[in-house]
Amino acid sequence: MGRAAGALLGKLCPGLQGASSHYTQHVHQLLVRHCSSGNYTGHEEKAMLDRIIRVDHAGEYGANRIYAGQMAVLGRSSVGPIIQHMWDQEKDHLQKFNELMVAHRVRPTVLLPFWNVAGFTLGAVTALLGKKGAMACTVAVEATISNHYNNQIRTLMERDPEKYRSLLETLKKFRDEELEHHDTGLEHDAELKNERLRGTRFRTLTVNTLDLFKTIGSQLN
Ligand SMILES: [Fe+2]
Ligand SMILES: [Fe+2]
Repeated sequence: MGRAAGALLGKLCPGLQGASSHYTQHVHQLLVRHCSSGNYTGHEEKAMLDRIIRVDHAGEYGANRIYAGQMAVLGRSSVGPIIQHMWDQEKDHLQKFNELMVAHRVRPTVLLPFWNVAGFTLGAVTALLGKKGAMACTVAVEATISNHYNNQIRTLMERDPEKYRSLLETLKKFRDEELEHHDTGLEHDAELKNERLRGTRFRTLTVNTLDLFKTIGSQLN
């Protein structure tokens, strides 16, 4: 295809014979670049990018609602400032994905109203079980989200790290902050070891709830 286009250019503009070979090379380079990014069509790339942004926006929206639920119950307790700090970072994450959705013209998930209620409820209910319940919820949620970011980072690295450099920087930064939240949850989970109920039980409950949410989300998205 590249040679044919170059030959056609040479015929149309005989004075550009030298340029036609440059043109052929350029087309060839474009094709090689396209092939090295995994033979994906523009439509497939757009669909993949849309999905990443939509899912991450939904996840950050849900995380915000979970911390809102925790703060409603534990905002004035000793762990209030710790939860508030994590929530503030989640607000920044959500703001960034709001901007990316506008920039890439991505529609939000139809599940936002569901995430609004379910996220807040999950945060509030686990917080009502105590500080340990809230921190166990944080550990489960943040482990899930950071794992999710890692999968996306791997996908984009395999496709075209240079093309997606900016998005990769964002995902890596957020992944690191989610891991910090995870570790904060673990630290406070361990500090609260004198409480009667074991954190693992809450984690199992939260992980199962998140799995349920993900299943519902994948059906409706
Ligand atoms: Fe986040
Ligand atoms: Fe987080």
